[in-house]
Amino acid sequence: MSIKVVILAAGKGTRMRSAIPKVLHRIGGVSLLQHVLNTAHQLKQATSLVIYGHGGEQVMSNTLHDGEWIEQRDQRGTGHAVQQVLPHINQDDTVLVLYGDVPLIQVETLNRVLQHAIDGNVGLLTYTMDDPTGYGRVISDANGNVQKIVEQKDATPEELATREINTGILSVTGKHLHQWLGELQPNNAQGEYYLTDIFHMAVRDGVPVNTESVIDEAEITGVNDKIQLAQLERALQKRRVEELMRQGVTFFDPQRFDLRGTIDEIGADVTIDINVILEGHVSIGNNVSIGPNCVIANSTIGDNITIKANSLLEDAVVGDASIIGPFARLRPGTTLSDDVKIGNFVETKNVTINSGSKVNHLSYIGDAVIGSNVNVGAGTITCNYDGVNKHQTTIENGAFIGSDTQLVAPVVVGENATIAAGSTITKDTPKDQLTLSRVHQISKPNWKRPVKK
Ligand code: UD1
Ligand code: MG
Repeated sequence: MSIKVVILAAGKGTRMRSAIPKVLHRIGGVSLLQHVLNTAHQLKQATSLVIYGHGGEQVMSNTLHDGEWIEQRDQRGTGHAVQQVLPHINQDDTVLVLYGDVPLIQVETLNRVLQHAIDGNVGLLTYTMDDPTGYGRVISDANGNVQKIVEQKDATPEELATREINTGILSVTGKHLHQWLGELQPNNAQGEYYLTDIFHMAVRDGVPVNTESVIDEAEITGVNDKIQLAQLERALQKRRVEELMRQGVTFFDPQRFDLRGTIDEIGADVTIDINVILEGHVSIGNNVSIGPNCVIANSTIGDNITIKANSLLEDAVVGDASIIGPFARLRPGTTLSDDVKIGNFVETKNVTINSGSKVNHLSYIGDAVIGSNVNVGAGTITCNYDGVNKHQTTIENGAFIGSDTQLVAPVVVGENATIAAGSTITKDTPKDQLTLSRVHQISKPNWKRPVKK
């Protein structure tokens, strides 16, 4: 026996009012469909089959999926969609049907629904709503046994009063699916092949229908428009931030934090101020304080680090006891060793900076290797680009770069060298010496400022 997870993702999503296929819209930085696939991936011995339609090429090229892609050319209903996968379903398979636009479903819930089909029955995930408008209603008999599902458009006034709805998520044996899908007829108000018709067939054939439910409505909520997309974004972030707080992270305001990716590791005593966004893969050590309005993407942050307000880090490594910001921009390839200070309005790119070095103010440091205990003065610029190629600047241990220095790469500043403020350095500078390259200061005693007449 194997488990086949069928994910319905052919719908157009007209109400999204977007050129992007519905299932590619993102929450938490990950597409709706990818969320569903990632959750399905956690099921044991399961393979996923995605039914695509609108924007197929775009959907396939933007999704990580190691199972089958099956096209549904015309969208003639949920039953028609699942009919497309029948050639891939064996009689002894267990089938779980999910929607590509219902991203927050949890694996624990899926396992509960799945178990009913593993037992040879039909499993159905339902939810009881105050306002069930638009959903298919689950009609049960006096003993609470499911009799059928009726769509809003086909329901009698009495049936419409039912508040238990079909979430769309169900499980069924491969054998039953083959048998019942062959019998579907589009004889309903919408002229569609309804997957939900299999429930009255189950009842007819004496196959028990077992329901499961969830507590958190976000789990079964589908995305049809941008309002629901935003609601699920909040629901997802709430889940994530609560999980992080359980791990000991302090948030100044849990509602003003966004994780658009994965935290691979996080230590103890991490404090996160408001409006912080973490993207991609981020690792954070112990005793780290992240100030307000920081964006950290694909970076590794060591221990005992302070990242001050409004700093941006991308593909960076920050060593222990370093201080970053405020207003620092660490661009890809920035690797900082321990005890490094990158101050305000400093931009770094493709740079290695060794321990104890400081770039405190208003600098651009690109394509450089900086030794240990180097002091880079305010306004220092590495002129790394000649319009065609990038060139490297090397600053050896203990060097002192005066303010407003331009280092025209390729260039090496020797160990313990001192560069006078305002220099334009175009040649390697010797170690232990003072180098200055600027016009000597002169004053003209007889000079008069012209007077306006
Ligand atoms: C469906 C259910 C309804 C349930 C509701 C839950 C049926 C007949 N009705 O209604 O009982 O309460 O979902 O949201 O099943 N899709 C395809 N191909 C198609 C049609 C749909 O892939 O031909 C996909 C859509 O992209 C979507 C999902 O199936 O992800 C549901 O389709 P939708 O049109 O939203 O179904 P509803 O009419 O809302
Ligand atoms: Mg729908």
